[in-house]
Amino acid sequence: MNGINNIILIGFMGSGKTYIGSHLAEKLNFNFYDTDEMIEKESQSSIQHIFATKGEACFRQLESTTIQRLIGKLDHAILSTGGGLPITEGNPELLRQLGKVVFLKTSRDIIKVRLAGDTTRPLLSAEDSDNTMDALLKFRTPIYEATAHIIVNTDNKSVETIVEEISSKVMNI
Ligand code: S3P
Repeated sequence: MNGINNIILIGFMGSGKTYIGSHLAEKLNFNFYDTDEMIEKESQSSIQHIFATKGEACFRQLESTTIQRLIGKLDHAILSTGGGLPITEGNPELLRQLGKVVFLKTSRDIIKVRLAGDTTRPLLSAEDSDNTMDALLKFRTPIYEATAHIIVNTDNKSVETIVEEISSKVMNI
């Protein structure tokens, strides 16, 4: 892979980071990791439970610790990250140290359809989840863009096409 050791996927909730990441790992024969899964495993608790009992700030601290611990340890890996992870100060730099960062950019309308009725994301569980989503998208998108080495638009593309696009773009940077 032209010296590329790790690929880090970032993007909003519902952009397909975990799904695409696992397919990408299979294609490249890389190991697959997901920060949400790592946090749940380590704390033996669900993300919803962490948010409900310890609060968002504690979850953000766990996210930062998780990626700090991976520095120097990831090799031939795909790392999928929680949608809010790049927003915490210091994390964009850590992500770029870990590997080539790919922003999976998905339009608001597609994200909205995918997340309709979702009960697993604490940030979107409020009554006005539409407004929350819009505000988060507006605030986060420029941060995702500034953090990424590569931006891949996922709208109306198959997982195979997206995986192909990530592989070839990553090799050309
Ligand atoms: C969050 C995204 C979630 C999860 C948590 C918070 C966010 O991950 O980390 O619910 O702040 O956007 P996904 O992006 O995998 O849904």
